[in-house]
Amino acid sequence: MTIYRATVLDTPQDPFVGGTLRSEQDGGLLVRDGVITARGSFADIQRDNPNEPVEHLDGGLLLPGFVDTHVHYPQVRAIGGLGMPLLNWLERCALPEEARLADPAYAEGTADDFVRSLVHAGTTSALVFGAHFVPAVDALFTRAASTGLRITTGLVLSDRILRDDLLTTTDAAIAGSHELAKRWNGTGRARYAVTPRFSLSCSEDMMAASGQLMQEIPDAWFTSHVNENIAEVAQVEQLFGTSYVGSYERHGLLGRRSVLAHNVHAKDDELAMLARTETGVAHCPTSNAALGSGLFPLKQHLEHGIRVAFGTDVGGGTGFSMFKEGLQGYFMQQLQGPDGAPLTPAHLLYLATSAGAAMLQREEVGDFSVGKRFDAVWLRGADDSALQVNLRNALDIDNALAKAFALGSDDAVGGVWIDGNRVKG
Ligand code: GUN
Ligand code: ZN
Repeated sequence: MTIYRATVLDTPQDPFVGGTLRSEQDGGLLVRDGVITARGSFADIQRDNPNEPVEHLDGGLLLPGFVDTHVHYPQVRAIGGLGMPLLNWLERCALPEEARLADPAYAEGTADDFVRSLVHAGTTSALVFGAHFVPAVDALFTRAASTGLRITTGLVLSDRILRDDLLTTTDAAIAGSHELAKRWNGTGRARYAVTPRFSLSCSEDMMAASGQLMQEIPDAWFTSHVNENIAEVAQVEQLFGTSYVGSYERHGLLGRRSVLAHNVHAKDDELAMLARTETGVAHCPTSNAALGSGLFPLKQHLEHGIRVAFGTDVGGGTGFSMFKEGLQGYFMQQLQGPDGAPLTPAHLLYLATSAGAAMLQREEVGDFSVGKRFDAVWLRGADDSALQVNLRNALDIDNALAKAFALGSDDAVGGVWIDGNRVKG
């Protein structure tokens, strides 16, 4: 057993419906075999457990491990392609890199870079957009398992519009998805996600094949993109003769284990459809800004009761840090004036941790309640960094968390734990 002594922050109750930030300034978490067995003030926890070793995490903030609900594994080396809207960026930056993963050795190196980057940033659970090639997805599952990451991912499917070397047939898509799901779904912390890239690159047959896979793979997850860019939306509506959300609904692809990324340009009937089916939405603020996709209508999502959580959308997004994602998410609501949702630091932490854990049904993590598994990230900058100067001068605990989002970065993450095992620091 270990007692972690730190300033502990979490959001066990949804702040969008009355929850508040929970904090212990000089807190103690008792962890046994990866499970939090007691929490409270450090003084109380140590008094009750006087013989347990103490890990001192001074001068920073201990937060629940981050949950990234939308991040592309093959794009870890393609971050920073600025200056283009979605479809041009895909063609020039993302897809040429994704094609390189046809080489299994290249894919193994990329999987290693990807998992290391996630852990370095403090992400301990993720719904990951996989690759178009079976061995490349296998390499990702293998690498994630070695770290203990709570990963959900799958083979990316497309049969039109993209470059030829990323296209497949419905038969190959079904066979490859089954092969990977059989090997990995439910193994350790891995889960399988059926992953058509987006309606634009999938024929009705491929969407139907995705629906078939959802029926055939036990407890399968589903993920894709929706309503990201105005030009893309127009093309999808023309091809399918439905709304963008409708193109998924038609094939039974919405539901409690489905997560669609972006939804920037959602129409009211689409929001109602997402709410009715309890489909989750991954909000990716840095990507929406970098690709000029638009301002996410968070207020409308909340009004419809749609579950929303943060995703980084690397490499359309500009990095793995949930601090940066949170700050950009805050900016984008601020920029909408009265149409934006006013976000407090507690909202940002919730969207980066508990909301994602709930969306991905990783109930075992997401906050530091007794009984949860210990996935954690310790933000601790260098002593002379602006981050530490500001944490030392925080007005109160909410202000300290605001400073964490304003100034935090993956390089300022001093420690990361998954299931009680230290994987960074
Ligand atoms: N739509 C289809 N593919 C992608 C992708 O790789 N990134 C983003 N942001 N949107 C997409
Ligand atoms: Zn994406």
